[in-house]
Amino acid sequence: MKGLILAGGSGTRLRPITHTGAKQLVPVANTPILFHSLQHLADAGIKEVGVIVGDTAEEIREAVGDGSQWGLEVTYLPQEAPLGLAHCVLIAHEFLGDDDFVMYLGDNLLRDGIVSFVEGFEAARATDEVPAAAQILLAPVPDPQRFGVAAIGDDGSIVELVEKPEVPPSNLALVGVYLFDKTIHEAVRAIEPSERGELEITDAIQWLIDNGHRVRHEELKGWWLDTGKLTPLLEANRLLLEILEPEIEGTVDEASRIEGRVVVAEGAVVTRSIIRGPAIIGPGTEVTDSYIGPFTSVDADCAVVDSELEHSIVLARSTISNVPRITDSLIGRDAVVSRSGERPAANRFLVGDHCQITITP
Ligand code: G1P
Repeated sequence: MKGLILAGGSGTRLRPITHTGAKQLVPVANTPILFHSLQHLADAGIKEVGVIVGDTAEEIREAVGDGSQWGLEVTYLPQEAPLGLAHCVLIAHEFLGDDDFVMYLGDNLLRDGIVSFVEGFEAARATDEVPAAAQILLAPVPDPQRFGVAAIGDDGSIVELVEKPEVPPSNLALVGVYLFDKTIHEAVRAIEPSERGELEITDAIQWLIDNGHRVRHEELKGWWLDTGKLTPLLEANRLLLEILEPEIEGTVDEASRIEGRVVVAEGAVVTRSIIRGPAIIGPGTEVTDSYIGPFTSVDADCAVVDSELEHSIVLARSTISNVPRITDSLIGRDAVVSRSGERPAANRFLVGDHCQITITP
């Protein structure tokens, strides 16, 4: 079985956010979202992975390399424009050949990985009289209008799949991990672009059903997040920090206090500060005279001085100094957030595209 990871291009959702670049590379619990999916493929015994890249190709290549850090062999497959998830399958045909494959949307985050999902498909294909051509994963959501949605018939099989329905037939959303055999290549060639101008994988799976092919489904047990949607980065960070293994490898001085589930990575230095978990402090980061509150990830080589930080993500090499209270924030790489006593006593900004800043009195 091969793997296909969508790490850019592909659809409107995977466009980069400026300044933090490829969204899939934003670290949650200090590990890029995309790396979690690569690890899940490796855990499921997959070796060869095609990575679909779009306009953030360079950044993705630099981060993922040849895939050997996960024991994977990575082949990059550039998509010239974000023409949809089924379009990714179309351009990956040569790489995939006739092999079965798992397609993983690189901004989806699944707590429990995909091992049992892949094993279930392989076991069923080995024994079923009519082997399934595809297997999808469904999860109940409160807002099905934002997803592909499945309608299940009385006999438990899938009757219909609709992309972003105004009136959803159920609350079961398609999770961004799919298993296919070679029949999907015929399906992606047969369908037409949707209203949003994309070749939808949901429509390709519907084509399989309409043409008499079996589509298996499983219901997801652990949590799942589509971080391509607007809000969930901080939520993803929170959920991952909740299952973090605490570990103090860096230096924590006598005057500091570590409470709860906390990781202080190697080379990090905590001085006269309180760190209340769950929280992670990346390698080389210095926390001095500060308070780091629950659900905070500070990535590598940052400095937090005389500041208070909670429920936030700070990316690598950033400095926060003398800021009394930061909460619910995502701070990009190489950023400087500071308070100065200079006159005039006004706020000064150098803000990148698509940023949001909220100021309180
Ligand atoms: C895509 C799929 C949708 C699926 C979702 C899962 O939606 O088209 O069917 O439910 O991923 O994350 P998109 O995020 O591209 O709007």
